[in-house]
Amino acid sequence: MKLSMKVTYPLLLSGLVLASFGAQATGKYNGQDRGKPVMPSVVNAKVQSECSGCHIAYPPGLLPAASWQKVMDGLDQHFGVDASLPAADRQSITDYLVKYASNRWTANAAPLRITDGEWYKVKHIRSGKVTEAIVKRESVKSKSNCQACHSGAEKGQFDERSVKIPK
Ligand code: HEC
Ligand code: HEC
Repeated sequence: MKLSMKVTYPLLLSGLVLASFGAQATGKYNGQDRGKPVMPSVVNAKVQSECSGCHIAYPPGLLPAASWQKVMDGLDQHFGVDASLPAADRQSITDYLVKYASNRWTANAAPLRITDGEWYKVKHIRSGKVTEAIVKRESVKSKSNCQACHSGAEKGQFDERSVKIPK
């Protein structure tokens, strides 16, 4: 199957680019990239079909390349489920995720989960905006359920002005 890619640039805020250089230079999270993962969101047909059955197809810019590599190397034990793929699909999806990964993290900060990343915790948990009680709601269920509160999540749209926490 041929990969079809559509590139959109919904969130290229100029500040992101500067912040990314800072983070790379020190090799550590420096607080500048709070809540601002690198977009563009690049939509890929294979990822849409293979990675959106159980949750949204997370945009590649939400994790660094080293994280995607780990996720894709462990699909047989993927957060408690078997999400294995034929080798060719796994390879083409890995290539895509790695290519469009965030360049604002470093290998020593490569969690398996987006929700274990520093910026996620700062924006959601430590800000007090996403409490445990909110996560438990039937309409949310998991802090990984981005689209419960960000309707444009799959397209990489997380602008805080469009956040809506469901009742
Ligand atoms: C059979 C179901 C299933 C499929 C298919 C699947 N996943 Fe998952 N994935 C899960 C579950 C379950 C979780 C944990 C969700 C939670 O904690 O709420 C998860 C979580 C994740 C997370 C971490 C989310 C966080 O908490 O930050 C990433 C990243 C991820 N999946 C990537 C992928 C990719 C890439 C693919 C396609 C290759 C894929 N998944 C396909 C079931 C699946
Ligand atoms: C329960 C609701 C909820 C869930 C689930 C959720 N978020 Fe958020 N998100 C928020 C809120 C609230 C904010 C902060 C908005 C503000 O500062 O006014 C936010 C902020 C953000 C921001 C910063 C936006 C900006 O303009 O600075 C990003 C990026 C983001 N979330 C990504 C994600 C991702 C990725 C996921 C899933 C892995 C996710 N969120 C899951 C509610 C949620």
